[in-house]
Amino acid sequence: MNIDWTALRAAATDIAARAYAPYSGLQVGAAGQDRDGVMVTGCNVENVSYGLTLCAECGLVSAQHAAGAGPLVAVSVVAGDGAPLMPCGRCRQLLLEAGGPELLLDADTGPQRIGDLLPGAFTDSDLASRRRRDA
Ligand code: THU
Repeated sequence: MNIDWTALRAAATDIAARAYAPYSGLQVGAAGQDRDGVMVTGCNVENVSYGLTLCAECGLVSAQHAAGAGPLVAVSVVAGDGAPLMPCGRCRQLLLEAGGPELLLDADTGPQRIGDLLPGAFTDSDLASRRRRDA
């Protein structure tokens, strides 16, 4: 599959300019594509109640579902300067579910599998095997 990393990173940089980040000053943009090339984007949205902040990847995953896109195969997350930003731990978990372990993430050193960036992840098989049987 052909992934246009330049276009993906450019889309992430564009959407980073729309971030609402008056508290941290860190604007973040995320862009991803599914196997058919459908592209979706998201930016971070902060809140005066700091803990309510939505990372750019939250917006990305919401846009993925809102657009009816399939599993994401490639994602670029950048700061406002246009350079890759490694997703926080929570967002690695979000991206894992948005695309599976083979999802490729744009990084300074080249694309990296999300599965390698979140080893030993909690997955649906943990839920299925460990939940109360009567729940
Ligand atoms: N942020 C993201 O949008 N994604 C990440 O993966 C890391 C952090 C945002 C959240 C907050 O608005 C700002 O960066 C500073 O933490």
